[in-house]
Amino acid sequence: MSSDVLVTALREVVGERHCLTDPALCASYETDWTRRFHGAARAVVRPASTAEVAAILRACAASGAGVVPQGGNTGLVGGSVPRGGEVVLSLLRLNEIDEVDTGAGEVTVGAGATLAAVQGAARGAGWEVGVDLGARDSATIGGMVATNAGGVNVVRHGSMRSQLLGFEAVMADGTVVRRLPGIPKDNTGYDIEGLLAGSEGTLAVITRVGLRLVPQLPHRAVCVIGFADATEAVAAAGVLRRTLASVHALELFTDAGLELVMGHAGVAAPFAARTPAYLLVEVASGETDPTDALFAAIQSLGVDEDSVAVATATDARERLWQLRERHTEVINAEGVPHKLDISVPARRYAELVERAPIVVATVAPDARTIVYGHVGDGNLHVNVLGPAPEDEAVDDAVLGLVLELGGSVSAEHGIGVAKVGWLARDRGEAAVAAMRAIKAAWDPKGIMNPGVIFER
Ligand code: FAD
Ligand code: MLT
Ligand code: ZN
Repeated sequence: MSSDVLVTALREVVGERHCLTDPALCASYETDWTRRFHGAARAVVRPASTAEVAAILRACAASGAGVVPQGGNTGLVGGSVPRGGEVVLSLLRLNEIDEVDTGAGEVTVGAGATLAAVQGAARGAGWEVGVDLGARDSATIGGMVATNAGGVNVVRHGSMRSQLLGFEAVMADGTVVRRLPGIPKDNTGYDIEGLLAGSEGTLAVITRVGLRLVPQLPHRAVCVIGFADATEAVAAAGVLRRTLASVHALELFTDAGLELVMGHAGVAAPFAARTPAYLLVEVASGETDPTDALFAAIQSLGVDEDSVAVATATDARERLWQLRERHTEVINAEGVPHKLDISVPARRYAELVERAPIVVATVAPDARTIVYGHVGDGNLHVNVLGPAPEDEAVDDAVLGLVLELGGSVSAEHGIGVAKVGWLARDRGEAAVAAMRAIKAAWDPKGIMNPGVIFER
């Protein structure tokens, strides 16, 4: 038995089986998906209800212990794992999914429900979830709200904050705040769920979420188009966004990334010709088949037809999608990456794609840089392999370039611990002071995910 008084109290709340201290059992909760961030937990607790979450927070507040909320642990900025000595609060057992309101297109789910499970429930009721991302089998709805996750359909439906109808959350002192299932039009005071979206576990623990669903769009086509350089690809993306109302995803990748996906994941190239840059476009519509409109738009681009692959059947569309979606996994297979998730105004995007590898090479000549991203949202993922996990020179070089181009140091993954040093440089001291005032009011003892978003 542990002699730690807090651990004893936590065991009384969740039972022996769901309060872990054995290092072997805690290990998977202590290291992030990239393996770049890790730390030892004082304990890992796995509550089964909102009441248990509240009791855990009361116990942690009483002893001043830091708490790291954790969903699927797929976050990419180090915010989901302990820095050393915090209690990890896993939400995975809060995974219930209420019946979908088929008339309204709404559903209330536990924070620990995975995106894939909620997609399954929504589809079974004739609806769809507006946000989709590659980590869907593990990422939880609570984690996705906490990070304001984006993904591949932001260009059509917006990010996670836009899907929120209602919420239930437990504050740092154990108080439960609730607005469920939530109402589409609701201007009663401050937008608390809007604030929880992107709070990265630093304000409260999200326990339940009310989601608005979107209509299913069964008519679909996917194409991959090759370009001589990123500038041409980005210009084409702008044309497609303007001329194709059915655009559902607009993604960019390069030949370096394609090479890795083909090598590690065994996925075939989209066409025989290899080109430096590629666009993946998905069009989707509810009523009419958008394929002809897609063909017409591609033709208007004047691209070589040997550099175009179009798929309409489900399995062929999925094969093309793998070329983009499996980048994250294959880069992880090559090493521990530095992942810079950034965005810039649309007019600077091509410049960012061209300059990011150059600024990396300036500070780390032997590093490998692989870029891809959601070009429709101005969001680029710069992945750097080579530098040691704690060596921040490449991070600083890329984030410095982003600010020079008028962009954001975090487009969709959050600040986590990876970018705390960059928050004030991006948002300014006054904005950070306003954020800290909210943090101090909600979490006066500073127990909620200490070291995330702000320096301690
Ligand atoms: P975790 O990783 O467990 O936690 C993330 C943050 O949220 C932490 O700060 C944590 O403390 C906090 N948190 C978690 N649950 C709660 C809760 N219930 N209450 C309060 N705080 C909480 N992200 C994108 O935006 N777009 C993508 O396209 C995308 N694709 C990905 C693809 C892959 C293969 C992988 C591995 C990751 C990808 N991600 C993407 C990143 C990640 O999936 C998202 O950030 C996701 O929202 C994290 O969900 P999670 O449940 O894993 O949260
Ligand atoms: C993606 O778009 O693939 C994700 O955000 C994950 C990543 O950046 O690798
Ligand atoms: Zn992304």
